[in-house]
Amino acid sequence: MAQLWKGRFKKELAKETNDFNSSISFDSRMFEEDIKGSIAHATMLGATGIIEKSESEKIINGLGEILEDIKSGKLIIDMNAEDIHTFIEGELTERLGQTGKRLHTARSRNDQVALDIRLTLRKEIDEISEMLKALIYVLCEKAEEHKQTIMPGYTHLQRAQPITFGHHLMAYCSMILRDIDRLKDVKKRLNVCPLGSGALAGTTYPLDREMVAELLGFDSITANSLDGVSDRDFCIELASALSLIMVHLSRFSEEIIMWCSWEFKFIELDDAFSTGSSIMPQKKNPDIAELVRGKSGRVFGDLTTLLTVMKGIALAYNKDMQEDKEAIFDAVDTVKMCLTAFTPMIETMTVLKDNMRLAAAKGFINATDCADYLVGKGLPFRDAYKCTGQLVALCIDKGLTLETLPLEEYKAICDLFDDGVYSAINLEKCVNDRKVAGSPSAESVLKQIELAKASL
Ligand code: ARG
Repeated sequence: MAQLWKGRFKKELAKETNDFNSSISFDSRMFEEDIKGSIAHATMLGATGIIEKSESEKIINGLGEILEDIKSGKLIIDMNAEDIHTFIEGELTERLGQTGKRLHTARSRNDQVALDIRLTLRKEIDEISEMLKALIYVLCEKAEEHKQTIMPGYTHLQRAQPITFGHHLMAYCSMILRDIDRLKDVKKRLNVCPLGSGALAGTTYPLDREMVAELLGFDSITANSLDGVSDRDFCIELASALSLIMVHLSRFSEEIIMWCSWEFKFIELDDAFSTGSSIMPQKKNPDIAELVRGKSGRVFGDLTTLLTVMKGIALAYNKDMQEDKEAIFDAVDTVKMCLTAFTPMIETMTVLKDNMRLAAAKGFINATDCADYLVGKGLPFRDAYKCTGQLVALCIDKGLTLETLPLEEYKAICDLFDDGVYSAINLEKCVNDRKVAGSPSAESVLKQIELAKASL
């Protein structure tokens, strides 16, 4: 396909150069946004009298037909074109002749591409937010189901204090809610219309920039033409928000992988979300979770790519910026792909409550509650802590737990103990006494679920 900028050149672009220069292989996915942007631009050109109303109408109809034809498969995007903008404009000119050539009045591919990426990413942000919401609903449902399912809470991967599986899931829910909020925030700065910035220095035509912005659902217009064409902050902000999503999914995956091991056996993944081994017949591997954990690296890489591409570019547009798309689209696609597999994997997993309860029974996770019991009897916490430490050491020596240690042994260490200690260290009670906002009691978890749902 001939280049649109041919006039000044005596030779065609070398085939190798065209392949190197072309972005069509990765920007063709923006065809709909490109066409919608052009329709808005043509509408404004007609409304302001910059081009004849009748020509504007022909252009709008022609673009609408091109959109339909691409969608129906009647028109195949030419992979030899320089980019999607060139392809669509070329196709329009082929269909409309002279009139098609008027579309690019008062516009540059520089403000056009800035517009297209914003429109494309705005749609992607909405889709990813919806996927995150779906995950939140799954987490809330599971959390409600397991608001009484006791498990050990960990610090340093050592059993620490009793919590419930429901409470643990709601921790991820908090992270995902922040992720949604971050996407919303990115969208605020992204949803600004750059069209009218021209190549770099605006234009001499009396454009109605607000009209275009409104037609395309933008909140406002960019304030400076140089920045309008060379700002890719929104790509970097989005890649950063997506990286954090991947951090969260990756941490969750790490836990899923551990919980599936024979060492934990807290959950079992559904067969549809696990894989086997080619040699070891007994194996059931959490590949999906491992891939999500692994793919986080790609998204962090995309963020680094974008930061690096942008850091040394003099104003305004430079072709380096064409590199923005592969990076941000890869980040977007990776997050979507991960969520597509991750959410149903969580939804269908089996929770092995009994194993969680058994793990909770070992590891002295009620030691803090035992100390708190002594505090209730009037002992200062530091002394209560020391006595309980001695009790734990004694249990370890004797191969007992705090629940099975006889009362005489308690009394030998501190005479404030009576047989009320056994109910004080009962795990179900320990968990459900933790009622303070944000704590693991069933009551508090229900509140967390309610708040999470309300914030959606
Ligand atoms: N394909 C280009 C990109 O993605 C479009 C802008 C081209 N602008 C230019 N001055 N060559 O950045």
